[in-house]
Amino acid sequence: MSDVKIAIGSDHAGLELKNFIKTILAELGLAPLDFGTDDACSVDYPDYGEKVSMAVSTGQVQRGILICGTGLGMSIVANKFPGVRAALCHDEYTAKMSRLHNDSNILVLGGRVLEKELAQRIVRVWLDTPFEGGRHLRRLEKIIELEKRLGNGS
Ligand code: RB5
Repeated sequence: MSDVKIAIGSDHAGLELKNFIKTILAELGLAPLDFGTDDACSVDYPDYGEKVSMAVSTGQVQRGILICGTGLGMSIVANKFPGVRAALCHDEYTAKMSRLHNDSNILVLGGRVLEKELAQRIVRVWLDTPFEGGRHLRRLEKIIELEKRLGNGS
């Protein structure tokens, strides 16, 4: 896992949790590309969601983590990008299933929703869980086809 390239970003509402998660990633030997925000000034989540989602969509990194207040805005932004499968997770089960069945490549968290301890467990399980493939791959291929039909595929 320590060879995976990972990007992270948040708005002001997710900044505290972002900084905490960076310490967890460091413990795991991961040095994420941090796209900001870097201070408590109010900013617009689409600007930071775009940076991380673009990095994942273009293959600059394999995984991303996005955090805003609820996680809702960031997940709406991220899922506009071709090839991005962003999963908003408030518990370990959905984080695990988002990897097993959906091969999620962006984890979205709510900084105003999650306690740090739970967020840590969510991040760890999300990083550790592989994609199951098989019938789930067929379903992901249908999403790629859908992106193409909608004119949003690469
Ligand atoms: C910022 O106040 C808040 O709206 C934002 O962090 C996020 O929760 C939006 O979905």
